[in-house]
Amino acid sequence: MYRMGKEEAAAAARVIESKELFRVNDGAKETTHFEQELAEKVGVSHALCVSGGTTALMSSLAGLGVRPGDEVIVPAYTYIATASAVLAVGAIPVLADVDQTLTLSPEAAERAITPRTRAILPVHMSGLPCNMDGIMEVAKRHNLFVVEDACQAVGGSFRGRRLGTIGDAGAMSFNYFKIISAGEGGALLTNNDEVFKRASIYHDSGAAFWPYTEDKDVPFFVGTAARVSEITGAILRVQLTRLDGILADLRRIRKQLHDSCPAYTPLPSNDYEGDCGVVAGFIFETEKEARAFAKKAGGWLPIDSERHIFCNWEPVVNRRGAFCDEMNPYLMARNAQSNPDYRSETYAKSLDLLSRVVYISINPDWTEEEVAERIARING
Ligand SMILES: Cc1ncc(COP(=O)(O)O)c(C=O)c1O
Repeated sequence: MYRMGKEEAAAAARVIESKELFRVNDGAKETTHFEQELAEKVGVSHALCVSGGTTALMSSLAGLGVRPGDEVIVPAYTYIATASAVLAVGAIPVLADVDQTLTLSPEAAERAITPRTRAILPVHMSGLPCNMDGIMEVAKRHNLFVVEDACQAVGGSFRGRRLGTIGDAGAMSFNYFKIISAGEGGALLTNNDEVFKRASIYHDSGAAFWPYTEDKDVPFFVGTAARVSEITGAILRVQLTRLDGILADLRRIRKQLHDSCPAYTPLPSNDYEGDCGVVAGFIFETEKEARAFAKKAGGWLPIDSERHIFCNWEPVVNRRGAFCDEMNPYLMARNAQSNPDYRSETYAKSLDLLSRVVYISINPDWTEEEVAERIARING
């Protein structure tokens, strides 16, 4: 979380004093306003505020009808939640390498396609945009859905379009570590009315008696109870007003770090202007050089970010896809044809790249002196 202050406290207090903490009720309230404001900000027809990025991904996949018998291609470098969301709807996550931008390689994604593939799930890791032109082109040729994981890239863009709005659906996270935050929270984005309807049902418990269900022509099914409280909605409305300022400062500092350190090679980007600026990335020839640089510059290697590397997704690698065997997608008869390859050696290219990149995490509130100090450390 970058910025939070009196305004969020006042918004939360306003909700508490109103005693209207439940989002589903008559009339547009905080969460509904947040959804409208977010949709308008990123230029999409529908936004649905849910409990987190994981449930936003699950709602996106369920909204698209992804199910047992399907495979979804995910990058070898992402948080485990990307793969768990696929398993939560009964489908099988299939891995594909990242390229030099540390985002999903469109070519590797294409090679991972089987007759069972239903969707590609690119992840805009650390605010860095995927090559969405390449991914959308592969998806179009093979008639696949695209669900964007923009959990770490709220507000970012690729060639002028906001991340999370380019594919069939997109997911954002507002958990504690994200660009804007309410501690927990997430949002699904889509331009597809049917996906939105199904996702809204999926994010609730399966109750068809709330006022908002009146215009739903999709038969109700049991959902996941991923609703948020009005306090979340109220805080996120304030956070959204901070987004442009946070991104402008992150991007300004990232550019200063790159421009002032010409001796080092910046990580290639699919869209430097659209990249959120959460990190300044540098790429090296060897892991040894990367480690030496990280030490002096105060950076970190993505290979060390344990939970974001597929080999450390213990439940996935060991095929424990649910709390009981009967609901474990890896054991379902409908998935019997799927035999995903989770061996480390298969994704050696990703592991090599992740060991040769150094990220310097940026704080948008660094003073000019702090930025100068960081630059001096890098060049020192
Ligand atoms: C890339 C990515 N996807 C999904 C998630 C899941 O988001 P949440 O923790 O809000 O459920 C995260 C959270 O860290 C993430 O980084």
